Amino acid sequence: MANAAGASRGIGRIFGRKTVAQIQSEHEHGELKRTLGALNLVLLGIGCIIGAGIFVLTGRAAAEFAGPAIMVSFVITGLLCAFVALCYAELASALPVSGSAYSYTYASMGEGAAWVMGLLLLLEYGLAASTVAVSWSGYFSSLLADMHLAIPPELMGAPGVPIKNAAGVVIAHGIVNLPAIVIIGLVTLLLIRGVTESATVNNIIVAIKVTIVVLFIAIGSRYVHPALWSPFIPAEIPARPVGTNMDVWHQIWRALVALVTGDNSTKYGIGGVIHGAGVIFFAYLGFEAVSTAGAESRNPGKDMPIGILGALVVCTVLYIATSAVLVGIVPYASLDNAAPLAIAVNQIGLPWFAVLVKVGAIAGLTSVMLVLLYGQTRIFYTMSRDGLLPISLAAVHKTFRTPWINTIIVGIAAMGAAGLLSLDTLGDLANVGSLAAFALVCITVIYLRISNPELVRPFRTPFFPLTPILGAVMCVVLLLSLMTTPTTRKFFLIYLGVGIVIYLVYGFWFSKLNRGEVVTGHEAAPMELPHVED
Ligand code: ALA
Repeated sequence: MANAAGASRGIGRIFGRKTVAQIQSEHEHGELKRTLGALNLVLLGIGCIIGAGIFVLTGRAAAEFAGPAIMVSFVITGLLCAFVALCYAELASALPVSGSAYSYTYASMGEGAAWVMGLLLLLEYGLAASTVAVSWSGYFSSLLADMHLAIPPELMGAPGVPIKNAAGVVIAHGIVNLPAIVIIGLVTLLLIRGVTESATVNNIIVAIKVTIVVLFIAIGSRYVHPALWSPFIPAEIPARPVGTNMDVWHQIWRALVALVTGDNSTKYGIGGVIHGAGVIFFAYLGFEAVSTAGAESRNPGKDMPIGILGALVVCTVLYIATSAVLVGIVPYASLDNAAPLAIAVNQIGLPWFAVLVKVGAIAGLTSVMLVLLYGQTRIFYTMSRDGLLPISLAAVHKTFRTPWINTIIVGIAAMGAAGLLSLDTLGDLANVGSLAAFALVCITVIYLRISNPELVRPFRTPFFPLTPILGAVMCVVLLLSLMTTPTTRKFFLIYLGVGIVIYLVYGFWFSKLNRGEVVTGHEAAPMELPHVED
């Protein structure tokens, strides 16, 4: 009996929650200055959003899945992100703390769910940084080729990945993606050294990226051949007849997707448009990064929603226009390339502009990597201070005042992933992690409305509960469509399983909340963190 009672008390600890007041007070003692206004937040968001998604993955999504209907994929994902963004805006305005989704989950559904959120955020931020690094490598090698310099093609891609030249011809197979490793290494060093990403630097990079994209739309639209938009949704090509040569899990996933989408193929057709939406979901990642600046926002109640939604609206409009121009210049089937925007610009015979696009992409992608890796170290730091990860991950370097051990570990892991995994695998894994995390955020909004109705919410998600329900359902649909790829499905399920076991053998026993210890302010450590200042 006693054992049973003990066990049930133990299991109850998985649901241990920090109170909302506790989360708020942990952060009230923070040292970060509340300097960010609405415009800074919008720019912070755009700085993190525009990157590999639009510069690279759009090409793959159009070529392999959606065809010219890639524009519709962008609308679907933009809508999904709007629902999720409204949920983030409510949480960020009610709980203006750092740690973002991890802290929100800790305060609502408890420690077990917060740990799962941490696992998902590791995919979102850690692998997204590697995805961006691989994209960076593609644009970098393309720029080198323009200067008649070349790295051996085998060192430009993950093991076995076909390396294509500018004409789309396979010239070698990769061994390791060296430039991707090097750029992650450099960004990691910057983060250890302690970069204060000043408003000026951030704003300049955002201006460069937005200018390049707007110029691409403005100049490119004059060269669009509307004939290339047809057929708008190419006829479906079944990858292989359903039921043959598929393992049981594959069949179950396919059946689930068919149930939801009414379709059982993801190569073109309606299913392809949905799969394409899942792939280019990556392009929107980062809008929620605004919420991580909650502790530095001047007036979170008003500015957070403007920052998150403003960045999202600007990027959605730019993305739909860019993809329309891209598939209107280059036949969609030729777009699966490391630098599709540059290919389009070359095709219209403006080599100077192609160089500009590449330089802009390289600068823009570098800043996205910096923000993503920084975000990952901040999440580990918070989890470590909560006792869910070893305390060394919260150790701050005496001189640089940065969480250096944590940053080195994150950097090495991201370098390994960037050097050895293909862009498709990385992008899909980052997407499934983020989609699951976003679904959890939508559920958190519903949960908190029920469990803490008295919480002051300066911004309330409109059309509650429809908005969070639609957000969560759309995330799950896209998640299922991405899970039709066996590698993605297996990795994701094994990763979650191993992650939960790690919690049961470590975090569960060392959690400060469960041990009754008080966690002092997450920002109380004398740590220099990159943040945008006025
Ligand atoms: N949305 C960011 C990108 O596309 C992560 O690179």
